[in-house]
Amino acid sequence: MNDSLFSEERSAEVVAASFGADADPRLRRVMTSLVRHLHDFVKDVELTNAEWEQAIAFLTATGQKCDSVRQEFILLSDVLGVSMLVETINHRTGGQATESTVTGPFHLVASPPRQLGADIALAGPGEPCLVTGQVTGPESEPLGGATIDVWQASADGFYDVQQPAVQPEGNLRGLFTAGSDGRFWFRTIVPSHYPIPGDGPVGDLLRATGRHPYRPAHIHFIVSAPGYRPVTTHLFVDESLYIDSDAVFGVKDSLVRRFPTVDDPARAAEAGLPNPFRTAHFDARLLRAEQVAQPETAGPRQEGR
Ligand code: BEZ
Ligand code: FE
Repeated sequence: MNDSLFSEERSAEVVAASFGADADPRLRRVMTSLVRHLHDFVKDVELTNAEWEQAIAFLTATGQKCDSVRQEFILLSDVLGVSMLVETINHRTGGQATESTVTGPFHLVASPPRQLGADIALAGPGEPCLVTGQVTGPESEPLGGATIDVWQASADGFYDVQQPAVQPEGNLRGLFTAGSDGRFWFRTIVPSHYPIPGDGPVGDLLRATGRHPYRPAHIHFIVSAPGYRPVTTHLFVDESLYIDSDAVFGVKDSLVRRFPTVDDPARAAEAGLPNPFRTAHFDARLLRAEQVAQPETAGPRQEGR
C-alpha cells in the first residue's frame, strides 16, 4: 500500500506531508494543525457535497460583503468567538491588569483630542453621565500622561459613523490625556445596547442558528502609556439588556460596572451636568511592556460588578 496517496484515514497526514521542508516553521505548524482540525471536522459531521457548496457560497458572500469600511470576515470571527479567544490568549493578565476585549469595527484611527472633563456627547438624547478613573501600572503606580481613547454608541444604539446625517462627526468619541496622577474624567451619556450589522451573510448565519445580534451597552477604551502594554477594552453597563448573551462574547465579569444615579445639585454643578446624573468609575491597570502575566493569584484585582 502506498502511504503517500490520499485516503480517508490518512487525509490530514498526506496533506501535511506536502508542505515543503524549507517552509517557514511557524507557518508549517499553523497549517498542519489547521488541516488536521479541518479534516477532523469534515469527518465528524460527514460533510455532504451540498453542505460543502453552501459553505463555499457563504465564504464567497462574506468576502464580497467586505470593502474599505466593512469587514465581514472579522464580524464572522467575532460571532464565532474566535476574535475573543485570540484577544484573550494574547492578552493574558493573570488577574494583574485590566482585561481586554474586542476592538470592533467602529474605532476611528484618530479620535478627536479633548480636554479632561469635556463632554463627548455633542448631540442627541441620553442620560448624562460622569465617567471617572485612574490609569496605573501593576504596582498601582499612577501613569501620568497616559492616553485614554474612548468611543461609544448613542442612546439610540448607533455610532456616529453609522448615522452621518444624524450625528455630528466625532460624537461620543474622545482622546484624553490623564493628569499627572493618572486620573481622567469626562462627561457623556449612558450608551444603549445595539445590534451588530445584520445585513450580510453573518446576519443570515445568526438568524439561521437562532441567535440574536445584540451587544450589551458599553463604552470602548484603548488605554496606553509609554513603557506599558496598551489595553483595548470596554466598560459594560451592568443593567443592560444582553449583558449575559453578548453576540460577540466580549463580556468579562471584571469589566462590568454599575452606573449609579447621583441626585445632588452641588455635585451636578461641579461636574457641569444636569441633576440628577449617572456615574461610572473605571480604573485601568496596565502591565509593563516587558512583563509576562503571572498565573492568576489572590493579588490586586480590578473591581468587578
Ligand atoms: C463593537 O463593539 O463596536 C462591535 C464589536 C464587534 C462587532 C461589532 C461591533
Ligand atoms: Fe461597540
